[in-house]
Amino acid sequence: CKLHKILETLSQGSIPSENDIGFLLNCKEDELQPLFLLAREVQHSVYGRDVYIRGLIEFTNYCKNDCYYCGIRRGNRHAERYRLTKEDILDCCEEGYRLGFRTFVLQGGEDPFWTDALLTGLISAIKNRFPDCAVTLSVGEKSRESYRAYYAAGADRFLLRHETANGAHYRQLHPPELSGEQRKQCLFTLKEIGFQVGCGMMIGSPGQTAAHIREDLLFMKELEPHMIGIGPFIPHQETPFAHQPPGTLSQTLALLSVLRILFPHILLPATTALATICDGGRERGILAGANVVMPNLSPLSVRKKYLLYDHKAGTGAEAAEGLRELKKRMSAIGYQIVVSRGDYKAASAL
Ligand code: 5AD
Repeated sequence: CKLHKILETLSQGSIPSENDIGFLLNCKEDELQPLFLLAREVQHSVYGRDVYIRGLIEFTNYCKNDCYYCGIRRGNRHAERYRLTKEDILDCCEEGYRLGFRTFVLQGGEDPFWTDALLTGLISAIKNRFPDCAVTLSVGEKSRESYRAYYAAGADRFLLRHETANGAHYRQLHPPELSGEQRKQCLFTLKEIGFQVGCGMMIGSPGQTAAHIREDLLFMKELEPHMIGIGPFIPHQETPFAHQPPGTLSQTLALLSVLRILFPHILLPATTALATICDGGRERGILAGANVVMPNLSPLSVRKKYLLYDHKAGTGAEAAEGLRELKKRMSAIGYQIVVSRGDYKAASAL
């Protein structure tokens, strides 16, 4: 009964109370079925049963930041660092294109080696060679000028998780030189420039409360992003959060559904972290309202080095070359992978 009241709130487009969010976070997966069902109705009405794929290219694991949760933080002396070359990256795109990818996501640590000149050169090379493809960047906080240069070079989208909308919680997760306000500002700047933008946060990160998640939802209502990336927090042994408990599958699924209902048009990935904590996690994410998967296109030689968290999935359906397996898994639950850029469907375009 409480759940049905919450579903009513969500259907009206209203953000649930802290108490209601707490209730959802404490539900077991089978108790959440009515929530998943409503999220799927919304998903089907906007995107049908289509699942978009993005080829993820993790092009550098050097990072100047020292985020307490992240395995490629600067302070991790055990991380084996690598950078792909422009040619490596173009080869990844070539292989991806052949497999049916029409979006390439360039994701990396905040690596000063990759200057704006190098990055814009890379972006325009990809866009020249694959004019029917979208390029998504996930390279962190930069100046407005840098973002403008990337956009001018042809980048279409930008992923920058806000990590948490609450200032005090942001400081619990990051060293003092990083600011939550600065991060949020970057997202507004990116949107202003013309990027399709993605924000997001981990579920179950240390110190996270239902009140924080409510603030995340309010922030997202204000930003109106095109994409939202969420996945469970998973501890990495070489970080200060090594012994913190991970976020759970059911909490992440509940939040995916809440997001689908509150933001019907959003592009919502079933993330690698979700697939990592549970076999079949990706499928359950789709059945909770997600409509994007991001298989890994990075060369096999580096895949084991881009470890944001322990036991990261990187083979089988998590890998680009496992696309057949992924297609099978999606059709087994009644969905199909489509060959398309998979752009945001604006409300007005429907
Ligand atoms: N567990 C889960 N997600 C993580 N990320 C970084 N470290 C972890 C971790 N230990 C997420 C962050 C970042 C994105 C690229 O990966 O939210 O923005």
